[in-house]
Amino acid sequence: MIILKNERDQAAMRAAGAVTAAVLDEVCAFVRPGLTTREVEEFAAEQIQAHGGRSAFFGYRKYPCHLCISVNEEVVHGIAGDRRLQFGDVVSLDVGVNFHGYIGDTARTVPVGGCSPLAQKLIDVTERALYEGIACAVQGNRVVDISRAIQQYVEANGFSVVREFVGHGVGRTMHEDPQVPNFVDGTKSPVLRAGMTIAIEPMVNAGGPAVRMLDDGWTVVTQDGLPSAHFEHSVLITGAQAEILTRCDRTASRLKV
Ligand code: MF3
Ligand code: CO
Ligand code: CO
Repeated sequence: MIILKNERDQAAMRAAGAVTAAVLDEVCAFVRPGLTTREVEEFAAEQIQAHGGRSAFFGYRKYPCHLCISVNEEVVHGIAGDRRLQFGDVVSLDVGVNFHGYIGDTARTVPVGGCSPLAQKLIDVTERALYEGIACAVQGNRVVDISRAIQQYVEANGFSVVREFVGHGVGRTMHEDPQVPNFVDGTKSPVLRAGMTIAIEPMVNAGGPAVRMLDDGWTVVTQDGLPSAHFEHSVLITGAQAEILTRCDRTASRLKV
């Protein structure tokens, strides 16, 4: 069942999105060589709290962290630990915040200090694929129009999209209907309507699409060991172009000045 958001819900989703984007911005700026992933996790937890939010991830199906931090061949849902970030790593940061009962969900992949040209292309293609998808997130289109745009853009650039994890509706809970795949799966796809809020989140592998789960039960890695990138925005479907709820240029931190 797809839950449409009324004006009040939309305002609350805007606020949650702004806080979530601000935290992701701060976490991305904090990342540098030599930090352990646990230090990044602790910083994220502090920032979420400083904004008056709660992590939407911590405790979700027993997930043990406040953000997902996935390095290089890790695709999504990486768990913080003793691993030290090194110059040249690419790190995917996914932040979900519950702010006054509504959730923002947003992710970005950044190089640690710098990275190889291939890794930079992977990052750029994944980010642009997200915007290709958002461009199709228009009332009257179907979800599959988003999926197709993302898949075509990624594959035209020689990379592959992950099949096992998908975008989703987002609202008072993190995962609502509909599912938003990053590929065309042939199933009947819902029509997009004004008032829907969805998280669009391409996960793009430099090599093949296959992934597997590590023994920790969470961390998803590429089967071929090549790097992966992940970008995500929560968006509101409107009568015109989708409104990006987790845009970083309207974040709380920038509004402060
Ligand atoms: N934020 C992820 C998503 O984009 C989900 C994280 S699940 C968790 O849908 F368990 F890791 F929190
Ligand atoms: Co997310
Ligand atoms: Co999501």
